[in-house]
Amino acid sequence: MARITASVYTSHVPAIGAAIDQGKTQEPYWQPLFAGYEPSKQWLRDNRPDVIFLVYNDHATAFSLDMIPTFAIGTAASYQPADEGWGPRPVPAVVGHPELASHIAHSVIQDDFDLTIVNKMDVDHGLTVPLSLMCGQATEPFAWPCPVIPFAVNVVQYPVPSGRRCFNVGRAIRKAVESFDEALNVQIWGTGGMSHQLQGPRAGLINREWDNRFLDRLISEPEALAQMPHIDYVREAGSEGIELVMWLIARGAMSDTPPIVKRRFYHVPASNTAVGHLILENT
Ligand code: DHB
Ligand code: FE
Repeated sequence: MARITASVYTSHVPAIGAAIDQGKTQEPYWQPLFAGYEPSKQWLRDNRPDVIFLVYNDHATAFSLDMIPTFAIGTAASYQPADEGWGPRPVPAVVGHPELASHIAHSVIQDDFDLTIVNKMDVDHGLTVPLSLMCGQATEPFAWPCPVIPFAVNVVQYPVPSGRRCFNVGRAIRKAVESFDEALNVQIWGTGGMSHQLQGPRAGLINREWDNRFLDRLISEPEALAQMPHIDYVREAGSEGIELVMWLIARGAMSDTPPIVKRRFYHVPASNTAVGHLILENT
């Protein structure tokens, strides 16, 4: 049977992708941020999964405001990096896992969660920046280390799903993975966040104290954290801080027993966003 072995949480700031692509990671502004991910990159080399189930949000790239699925699972064989206005990032195409993705879609939909099935889409910085942070820049072979199943969540256009629903979707994903009849090592990644607001009078908002409390609670009391209403995210972590509900999907997919914290990192500044990062292993 397949099994979820670990979860990874990380912000997805697009300027991080640009810094990598333009060879700026050792500049004074960026160096402390990338240094914080070096142990995580080593951890991923030591704990390479067979598949990454990557929970992220599309930023009106693949889904325009014409059509907005709340939860969308990628069942395609591959996904191209999206052109977000300045050309696609020079990163590998994402290889999918149609068999596992279709199995998860079947199981989760039969478990009463309405997923949109996506057979073709491009993936934006929400998905490629977390991969770059954890894997570094691909040279040869020009490929990510393993297949990835994209799972897109609407946190851009209201109404967005509640933290509670996200946590329960995570549980349904865990059940789905554990009923897949092949011994696969699956990691689930929750991405986006932490506190940031890109618009309006509060643009630039960062809330270090709230972010760190969120990390504490995500580790030790995720089910209680999942009860927090979306307005609290917006008030405390800024309008884009709502991206953090996606971390609850990954956390809900973990075992009910306490996880092992393999890595915890928090860094400001990175563009307009507080960067938060965790690696949790199942026991
Ligand atoms: C920034 C952060 C985001 O999450 C995003 O989607 C776009 C920009 C930023 O900090 O600049
Ligand atoms: Fe974002």
